[in-house]
Amino acid sequence: MLGKGGGAASGGKARIAVLVSGGGTNLQALIDAQDKGIIKSGEIVLVISNKAGAYALERAAKAGIKAETVLRKEAGTQEAFEERLHELLSENRIDLIVMAGFMSILSGSFTARYPDRIINIHPSLIPSFCGKGFYGLHVHEAALEYGVKVTGATVHFVNEIPDGGRIIKQKAVEILDCDTPEVLQKRVMEKAEWIILPEATEEICEEIVRGK
Ligand code: GAR
Repeated sequence: MLGKGGGAASGGKARIAVLVSGGGTNLQALIDAQDKGIIKSGEIVLVISNKAGAYALERAAKAGIKAETVLRKEAGTQEAFEERLHELLSENRIDLIVMAGFMSILSGSFTARYPDRIINIHPSLIPSFCGKGFYGLHVHEAALEYGVKVTGATVHFVNEIPDGGRIIKQKAVEILDCDTPEVLQKRVMEKAEWIILPEATEEICEEIVRGK
């Protein structure tokens, strides 16, 4: 069972599960950070995708990390989908869940099982351009349409409010006049997401290992 005050982490590294849906560049940033020793208090032991054939699954395989696919449609109901996720997380004694491009909103009853033990990367400076409907490229389209001059990325805890949990880290990124959503997305990933997600992951793992 995850939770404050130890559990599976005591004495060793925090056991991390990464939830993905797509290309998995943030998963790759986490794997690379682990290889470089930026993440040293935790270990990625499980990757779960809610999309069959997501490229993130190949990244996990290449890194020798156990990977599972759980499909909402196959599960039948949201409740059954989340129960399957919970089973996998329990079986693998997961201490920290990292949502890295996971495009599914988890219910309040799921998130309540893991207080301060689920984090998410969002590609804007929350509270701008976040919440239901703001994901992936749409976030950057909205930022460009609004005309903001600065955007960025946020790592936050996940609770029952989409993108509404306590903020852990943010990094600002400049918007240029010539930006397209795709160009901006890449800059936000390179200059913010791939940096702050591993940093925040290490910080939380370090707290878990210390038993905070
Ligand atoms: C990333 O930009 C991530 O911040 C975003 O989707 C992309 C996934 O890319 N997540 C959200 O919009 C969540 N609301 P990746 O699969 O290459 O990491």
